[in-house]
Amino acid sequence: MRLGTLDLGSHLFLSPLAGYTNLPFRLTLRELGGLELATTDLVNARSLLERNPKALKLIETRPADRPLAVQLFGSVPEEMRDAALYLEGAGISAVDINMGCPVRKVCRTGGGSAMMTELDRTATLARCMVAALRIPVTAKMRLGWDDDNLTAPDLARALEDVGVAAVFVHGRTRAQGFGGRVNLAGIRAVVQAARRIPVIGNGDVTTPQAAREMLETTGCAGVSIGRGAFYNPWIFAHTTHFLRTGEVLPEPAFSERVRVMCLHLDRMVEVFGEELGCRMFRKVAPWYARRFGPANLFNRQVVTIRSRAEFRDALETYVRWRDQFLGDDGELKPGYQPAPLPTSLTEAATAGRTATIAVPHGPVERW
Ligand SMILES: Cc1cc2nc3c(=O)[nH]c(=O)nc-3n(C[C@H](O)[C@H](O)[C@H](O)COP(=O)(O)O)c2cc1C
Repeated sequence: MRLGTLDLGSHLFLSPLAGYTNLPFRLTLRELGGLELATTDLVNARSLLERNPKALKLIETRPADRPLAVQLFGSVPEEMRDAALYLEGAGISAVDINMGCPVRKVCRTGGGSAMMTELDRTATLARCMVAALRIPVTAKMRLGWDDDNLTAPDLARALEDVGVAAVFVHGRTRAQGFGGRVNLAGIRAVVQAARRIPVIGNGDVTTPQAAREMLETTGCAGVSIGRGAFYNPWIFAHTTHFLRTGEVLPEPAFSERVRVMCLHLDRMVEVFGEELGCRMFRKVAPWYARRFGPANLFNRQVVTIRSRAEFRDALETYVRWRDQFLGDDGELKPGYQPAPLPTSLTEAATAGRTATIAVPHGPVERW
């Protein structure tokens, strides 16, 4: 598919997840296949212009991490333009404008979801960026501020008129936060409103089948996946295969999950250093472990790691223990007589299946 001047080999995209979609995660996803354009966490345009070290870390990339879009937030046109020009100079493939963040701190300054309430102002900001850049400018929005203000279709039109190359639509309103189910009819209305540019659907896609439903129900040109990529890093490869052939690929074996988890940790250490990388990985490893089978033993140890050696210890102890009764495919070994699992393990297994990435909750006005 085409996104402005960018030719892409896939219509599946990685949605920005602040705190998760860092360079090590993106490289890991890319190695598994099916993903082309990935997006960074949201980056404050002003902080980037000030060369704030945290902002610079958020845009860190490698040749293998291409094509890459950086998502900017801010409400001052000149700052957004200059930050985007800096990114273009640094070789970034596209710039995405955050118009969906519901957090009060971002909305109060006129950025994030607040941009959906002032269409003219938002279009002026986007025009200012498009006029200055050669790389595509895209926008990521929600359906609107609330159910009475579903401005996404009008905003999409206004943005395409000023030269925005594509819009990504999360099918919820700001008032909805992350609650309820994604509104596919709402995304469809945006698809119908846009005349020339691709609309990419987003929200609750955690399986290849859900991606197909998003495409078929809304008519969108592509699908952007956020939390589903963290729950299952193979989702892009498996969805690509499913959309081409209709076949659902088998789940990766235990050894493959372990291989990819170790690779992910290596990259965390490479990018963030051993101590910080390991600390950050404490919240990542349990996501891999969700599909290991009972993994309480591993999870208890991995959430305290400070070094690669401690990680290896935790993994080796766990693999030895698991190997007594579970095969690589997750099935009980022939002849193994299972004793009832201790309650702590049963609870851990269930908790693993139902856990979700933390999202802000409570009344959205207080986020
Ligand atoms: C922890 C977390 C962080 C997020 N950070 C961003 C962000 O930085 N920029 C953005 O546009 N959306 C952000 N989102 C919204 C996601 O990109 C996406 O629109 C939303 O999660 C719905 O898609 P999904 O169900 O595939 O996750 C975030 C969502 C979560 C849960």
